[in-house]
Amino acid sequence: MTVLSQTALLLELESVVEKNLDRHLSMAKEWFPHEYVPWSEGRTFDGPLGGEPWSETDSTIPDVARTALIVNLLTEDNLPSYHHEIATLFGRDGAWGNWVHRWTAEEGRHGTAIRDYLTVTRAVDPVALERARMTHMSAGYVNAHGDEVLHSLAYVSFQELATRISHRNTGKVTGDPACEALLARVAADENLHMVFYRNLLAAAFELAPSQAMRAVADVVADFQMPGVGIEGFARKSVAIALAGIYDLRQHRDDVVVPVLRQWDVFEVTGLDADGEAAREEIAAHLDGLERHASRFEEKRAARAARLTATR
Ligand SMILES: [Fe+2]
Ligand SMILES: [Fe+2]
Repeated sequence: MTVLSQTALLLELESVVEKNLDRHLSMAKEWFPHEYVPWSEGRTFDGPLGGEPWSETDSTIPDVARTALIVNLLTEDNLPSYHHEIATLFGRDGAWGNWVHRWTAEEGRHGTAIRDYLTVTRAVDPVALERARMTHMSAGYVNAHGDEVLHSLAYVSFQELATRISHRNTGKVTGDPACEALLARVAADENLHMVFYRNLLAAAFELAPSQAMRAVADVVADFQMPGVGIEGFARKSVAIALAGIYDLRQHRDDVVVPVLRQWDVFEVTGLDADGEAAREEIAAHLDGLERHASRFEEKRAARAARLTATR
Protein backbone atom coordinates (compact mmCIF):
# COMPACT_ATOMS: atom_id res chain seq x y z
CA MET A 1 0.00 0.00 0.00
CA THR A 2 1.41 3.38 -0.95
CA VAL A 3 1.89 5.86 1.84
CA LEU A 4 0.67 9.35 0.92
CA SER A 5 2.97 12.27 1.75
CA GLN A 6 1.66 15.27 3.69
CA THR A 7 1.54 17.28 0.45
CA ALA A 8 -0.33 14.51 -1.38
CA LEU A 9 -2.85 14.29 1.46
CA LEU A 10 -3.47 18.05 1.33
CA LEU A 11 -3.93 17.93 -2.45
CA GLU A 12 -6.20 14.89 -2.39
CA LEU A 13 -8.38 16.38 0.33
CA GLU A 14 -8.67 19.85 -1.20
CA SER A 15 -11.94 19.09 -3.03
CA VAL A 16 -13.38 17.67 0.21
CA VAL A 17 -12.42 20.88 1.98
CA GLU A 18 -14.17 22.90 -0.71
CA LYS A 19 -17.36 20.85 -0.47
CA ASN A 20 -17.42 20.96 3.32
CA LEU A 21 -16.64 24.66 3.47
CA ASP A 22 -19.71 25.25 1.26
CA ARG A 23 -21.72 23.00 3.55
CA HIS A 24 -20.39 24.86 6.59
CA LEU A 25 -21.27 28.27 5.16
CA SER A 26 -24.78 27.10 4.34
CA MET A 27 -25.30 25.79 7.89
CA ALA A 28 -23.57 28.54 9.91
CA LYS A 29 -25.89 31.24 11.21
CA GLU A 30 -24.62 34.79 11.51
CA TRP A 31 -24.64 35.96 15.14
CA PHE A 32 -23.47 38.97 17.12
CA PRO A 33 -21.52 38.72 20.38
CA HIS A 34 -22.80 42.10 21.63
CA GLU A 35 -26.38 40.82 21.66
CA TYR A 36 -25.48 38.24 24.32
CA VAL A 37 -23.94 40.65 26.83
CA PRO A 38 -26.13 42.38 29.48
CA TRP A 39 -24.42 45.75 29.08
CA SER A 40 -26.77 47.64 31.42
CA GLU A 41 -25.45 45.56 34.34
CA GLY A 42 -21.98 47.02 33.84
CA ARG A 43 -20.19 49.50 36.12
CA THR A 44 -16.93 51.39 35.67
CA PHE A 45 -13.93 49.80 37.39
CA ASP A 46 -11.24 51.48 39.49
CA GLY A 47 -8.11 52.71 37.72
CA PRO A 48 -7.91 55.71 35.39
CA LEU A 49 -11.71 56.15 35.37
CA GLY A 50 -12.06 56.02 39.17
CA GLY A 51 -14.87 53.46 39.41
CA GLU A 52 -15.32 50.61 41.83
CA PRO A 53 -12.78 47.81 42.18
CA TRP A 54 -13.87 44.24 41.58
CA SER A 55 -15.00 42.29 44.60
CA GLU A 56 -15.82 38.64 45.00
CA THR A 57 -19.38 39.54 46.04
CA ASP A 58 -20.07 41.35 42.74
CA SER A 59 -21.38 38.11 41.24
CA THR A 60 -23.24 35.15 42.67
CA ILE A 61 -22.26 32.55 40.07
CA PRO A 62 -20.75 29.40 41.63
CA ASP A 63 -16.97 29.17 42.06
CA VAL A 64 -16.64 26.22 39.72
CA ALA A 65 -18.51 28.13 37.00
CA ARG A 66 -15.97 30.95 37.38
CA THR A 67 -13.14 28.43 37.09
CA ALA A 68 -14.64 26.84 33.96
CA LEU A 69 -15.33 30.24 32.36
CA ILE A 70 -11.72 31.27 32.93
CA VAL A 71 -10.36 28.01 31.46
CA ASN A 72 -12.71 28.26 28.47
CA LEU A 73 -11.85 31.90 27.83
CA LEU A 74 -8.07 31.44 28.15
CA THR A 75 -8.38 28.50 25.77
CA GLU A 76 -10.16 30.72 23.24
CA ASP A 77 -7.64 33.52 23.85
CA ASN A 78 -4.80 31.41 22.50
CA LEU A 79 -6.29 31.64 19.00
CA PRO A 80 -3.22 33.32 17.44
CA SER A 81 -1.21 30.20 18.25
CA TYR A 82 -3.89 27.87 16.88
CA HIS A 83 -4.13 29.98 13.75
CA HIS A 84 -0.39 29.74 13.33
CA GLU A 85 -0.51 25.95 13.71
CA ILE A 86 -3.24 25.33 11.15
CA ALA A 87 -2.15 28.05 8.70
CA THR A 88 1.35 26.55 8.69
CA LEU A 89 0.08 23.02 8.19
CA PHE A 90 -2.95 23.53 5.92
CA GLY A 91 -1.61 26.58 4.08
CA ARG A 92 -3.23 29.91 3.33
CA ASP A 93 -4.17 29.28 -0.29
CA GLY A 94 -7.13 27.75 -2.06
CA ALA A 95 -9.92 25.97 -0.21
CA TRP A 96 -7.66 25.12 2.75
CA GLY A 97 -6.75 28.78 3.17
CA ASN A 98 -10.39 29.85 2.92
CA TRP A 99 -11.27 27.44 5.69
CA VAL A 100 -8.34 28.50 7.88
CA HIS A 101 -9.38 32.14 7.69
CA ARG A 102 -13.11 31.54 8.10
CA TRP A 103 -12.51 29.25 11.08
CA THR A 104 -10.21 31.82 12.68
CA ALA A 105 -12.83 34.55 12.23
CA GLU A 106 -15.48 32.40 13.91
CA GLU A 107 -13.21 31.43 16.79
CA GLY A 108 -12.29 35.08 17.24
CA ARG A 109 -15.78 36.00 18.39
CA HIS A 110 -15.78 33.36 21.13
CA GLY A 111 -13.13 35.07 23.19
CA THR A 112 -14.64 38.50 22.54
CA ALA A 113 -18.10 37.43 23.64
CA ILE A 114 -17.03 35.58 26.77
CA ARG A 115 -14.67 38.34 27.90
CA ASP A 116 -17.34 41.03 27.42
CA TYR A 117 -19.80 38.96 29.43
CA LEU A 118 -17.34 38.33 32.27
CA THR A 119 -16.26 41.97 32.49
CA VAL A 120 -19.76 43.44 32.40
CA THR A 121 -21.22 41.00 34.92
CA ARG A 122 -18.10 41.16 37.14
CA ALA A 123 -18.19 37.39 37.27
CA VAL A 124 -14.41 37.05 37.67
CA ASP A 125 -11.51 39.21 38.88
CA PRO A 126 -10.54 41.18 35.73
CA VAL A 127 -7.00 41.83 36.96
CA ALA A 128 -6.30 38.17 37.67
CA LEU A 129 -7.91 37.27 34.35
CA GLU A 130 -5.72 39.68 32.39
CA ARG A 131 -2.58 38.44 34.14
CA ALA A 132 -3.56 34.84 33.40
CA ARG A 133 -4.15 35.75 29.75
CA MET A 134 -0.71 37.35 29.48
CA THR A 135 0.98 34.32 31.02
CA HIS A 136 -0.97 31.84 28.95
CA MET A 137 -0.56 33.57 25.60
CA SER A 138 3.10 34.33 26.25
CA ALA A 139 3.70 30.58 26.48
CA GLY A 140 1.94 29.99 23.15
CA TYR A 141 0.51 26.68 22.04
CA VAL A 142 2.13 23.92 20.05
CA ASN A 143 0.07 21.10 18.58
CA ALA A 144 1.47 17.71 19.62
CA HIS A 145 1.23 16.47 16.01
CA GLY A 146 1.71 19.82 14.29
CA ASP A 147 3.35 18.59 11.09
CA GLU A 148 1.00 15.72 10.34
CA VAL A 149 -2.21 16.47 8.46
CA LEU A 150 -4.26 13.44 9.51
CA HIS A 151 -3.16 13.59 13.15
CA SER A 152 -4.14 17.25 13.25
CA LEU A 153 -7.53 16.53 11.66
CA ALA A 154 -8.15 13.74 14.15
CA TYR A 155 -7.14 15.97 17.06
CA VAL A 156 -9.42 18.86 16.11
CA SER A 157 -12.34 16.49 15.46
CA PHE A 158 -12.20 15.40 19.12
CA GLN A 159 -11.14 18.78 20.46
CA GLU A 160 -13.96 20.79 18.85
CA LEU A 161 -16.51 18.36 20.28
CA ALA A 162 -14.83 18.45 23.70
CA THR A 163 -14.93 22.25 23.64
CA ARG A 164 -18.58 22.21 22.61
CA ILE A 165 -19.52 20.06 25.61
CA SER A 166 -17.39 22.07 27.98
CA HIS A 167 -18.95 25.41 26.90
CA ARG A 168 -22.44 23.97 27.02
CA ASN A 169 -22.10 22.51 30.51
CA THR A 170 -20.32 25.57 31.83
CA GLY A 171 -23.32 27.65 30.75
CA LYS A 172 -25.66 25.36 32.68
CA VAL A 173 -23.57 25.50 35.86
CA THR A 174 -23.54 29.32 35.97
CA GLY A 175 -27.27 29.39 36.70
CA ASP A 176 -27.44 32.59 34.62
CA PRO A 177 -29.75 32.27 31.60
CA ALA A 178 -27.82 35.00 29.73
CA CYS A 179 -24.53 33.13 30.14
CA GLU A 180 -26.16 29.86 29.25
CA ALA A 181 -27.56 31.35 26.04
CA LEU A 182 -24.17 32.83 25.12
CA LEU A 183 -22.29 29.58 25.72
CA ALA A 184 -24.93 27.56 23.88
CA ARG A 185 -24.34 29.85 20.90
CA VAL A 186 -20.59 29.37 21.10
CA ALA A 187 -21.10 25.61 21.47
CA ALA A 188 -23.16 25.56 18.26
CA ASP A 189 -20.14 27.03 16.40
CA GLU A 190 -17.84 24.40 17.90
CA ASN A 191 -20.21 21.67 16.77
CA LEU A 192 -20.08 22.82 13.15
CA HIS A 193 -16.28 22.95 13.40
CA MET A 194 -16.26 19.37 14.67
CA VAL A 195 -18.47 18.22 11.78
CA PHE A 196 -16.16 19.89 9.25
CA TYR A 197 -13.02 18.19 10.57
CA ARG A 198 -14.76 14.88 11.17
CA ASN A 199 -15.99 14.81 7.54
CA LEU A 200 -12.49 15.54 6.33
CA LEU A 201 -11.01 12.68 8.28
CA ALA A 202 -13.84 10.43 7.08
CA ALA A 203 -12.65 11.18 3.53
CA ALA A 204 -9.10 10.38 4.62
CA PHE A 205 -10.29 6.97 5.82
CA GLU A 206 -11.40 6.28 2.23
CA LEU A 207 -8.19 7.63 0.78
CA ALA A 208 -5.58 6.20 3.13
CA PRO A 209 -7.29 3.97 5.71
CA SER A 210 -4.17 2.79 7.51
CA GLN A 211 -2.68 6.27 7.79
CA ALA A 212 -6.00 7.60 9.09
CA MET A 213 -6.27 4.78 11.64
CA ARG A 214 -2.72 5.40 12.84
CA ALA A 215 -3.49 9.12 13.24
CA VAL A 216 -6.62 8.42 15.28
CA ALA A 217 -4.84 5.85 17.49
CA ASP A 218 -1.96 8.23 18.25
CA VAL A 219 -4.30 11.15 18.96
CA VAL A 220 -6.71 9.36 21.31
CA ALA A 221 -3.74 7.90 23.18
CA ASP A 222 -2.29 11.26 24.18
CA PHE A 223 -5.29 13.60 23.93
CA GLN A 224 -4.98 16.75 26.01
CA MET A 225 -7.38 19.69 26.11
CA PRO A 226 -5.97 22.74 24.29
CA GLY A 227 -5.96 24.66 27.60
CA VAL A 228 -3.51 22.22 29.18
CA GLY A 229 -0.83 24.92 29.47
CA ILE A 230 -3.04 27.22 31.59
CA GLU A 231 -1.54 27.92 35.01
CA GLY A 232 -3.08 25.55 37.57
CA PHE A 233 -4.77 23.54 34.82
CA ALA A 234 -4.56 20.21 36.69
CA ARG A 235 -6.32 21.61 39.77
CA LYS A 236 -8.87 23.48 37.67
CA SER A 237 -9.69 20.47 35.52
CA VAL A 238 -10.32 18.35 38.63
CA ALA A 239 -12.86 20.93 39.84
CA ILE A 240 -14.41 20.99 36.35
CA ALA A 241 -14.62 17.19 36.32
CA LEU A 242 -16.09 16.99 39.83
CA ALA A 243 -18.81 19.42 38.74
CA GLY A 244 -19.63 17.22 35.73
CA ILE A 245 -18.73 19.98 33.27
CA TYR A 246 -16.10 17.86 31.57
CA ASP A 247 -14.98 14.55 32.99
CA LEU A 248 -13.57 11.24 31.76
CA ARG A 249 -17.00 9.67 31.34
CA GLN A 250 -18.07 12.50 29.03
CA HIS A 251 -14.71 12.39 27.28
CA ARG A 252 -15.11 8.70 26.52
CA ASP A 253 -18.86 8.39 25.93
CA ASP A 254 -19.75 11.80 24.47
CA VAL A 255 -16.58 12.70 22.57
CA VAL A 256 -14.31 9.79 21.65
CA VAL A 257 -16.89 7.04 21.07
CA PRO A 258 -19.39 9.03 18.94
CA VAL A 259 -16.64 10.37 16.66
CA LEU A 260 -15.10 6.90 16.27
CA ARG A 261 -18.57 5.58 15.45
CA GLN A 262 -19.01 8.18 12.71
CA TRP A 263 -15.79 6.97 11.11
CA ASP A 264 -16.92 3.38 11.64
CA VAL A 265 -13.37 2.55 12.74
CA PHE A 266 -14.16 -1.01 13.75
CA GLU A 267 -15.59 -1.81 10.30
CA VAL A 268 -12.94 -0.15 8.11
CA THR A 269 -11.46 -2.57 5.57
CA GLY A 270 -8.24 -2.60 3.59
CA LEU A 271 -5.90 -1.96 6.51
CA ASP A 272 -2.24 -2.95 6.42
CA ALA A 273 -0.45 -4.42 9.46
CA ASP A 274 0.12 -1.05 11.10
CA GLY A 275 -3.48 -0.01 10.44
CA GLU A 276 -4.70 -3.16 12.19
CA ALA A 277 -2.30 -2.57 15.07
CA ALA A 278 -3.56 1.01 15.35
CA ARG A 279 -7.15 -0.19 15.51
CA GLU A 280 -6.24 -2.60 18.32
CA GLU A 281 -4.58 0.27 20.18
CA ILE A 282 -7.81 2.27 19.88
CA ALA A 283 -9.87 -0.63 21.29
CA ALA A 284 -7.43 -1.07 24.18
CA HIS A 285 -7.48 2.65 24.87
CA LEU A 286 -11.30 2.66 25.03
CA ASP A 287 -11.15 -0.14 27.60
CA GLY A 288 -8.63 1.82 29.64
CA LEU A 289 -10.78 4.94 29.47
CA GLU A 290 -13.77 2.90 30.64
CA ARG A 291 -11.88 1.72 33.73
CA HIS A 292 -10.59 5.19 34.55
CA ALA A 293 -13.98 6.81 34.00
CA SER A 294 -15.73 4.30 36.26
CA ARG A 295 -13.11 4.73 38.96
CA PHE A 296 -13.50 8.51 38.79
CA GLU A 297 -17.29 8.23 39.03
CA GLU A 298 -16.99 6.00 42.10
CA LYS A 299 -14.60 8.42 43.77
CA ARG A 300 -16.84 11.36 42.96
CA ALA A 301 -19.89 9.61 44.36
CA ALA A 302 -18.00 8.68 47.54
CA ARG A 303 -16.83 12.26 47.92
CA ALA A 304 -20.37 13.58 47.46
CA ALA A 305 -21.64 11.12 50.09
CA ARG A 306 -18.90 12.25 52.51
CA LEU A 307 -19.77 15.90 51.96
CA THR A 308 -23.49 15.29 52.64
CA ALA A 309 -22.64 13.28 55.78
CA THR A 310 -20.52 16.07 57.27
CA ARG A 311 -23.07 18.79 56.47
FE1 LIG B 1 -14.04 28.45 20.16
FE1 LIG C 1 -14.16 25.71 17.31
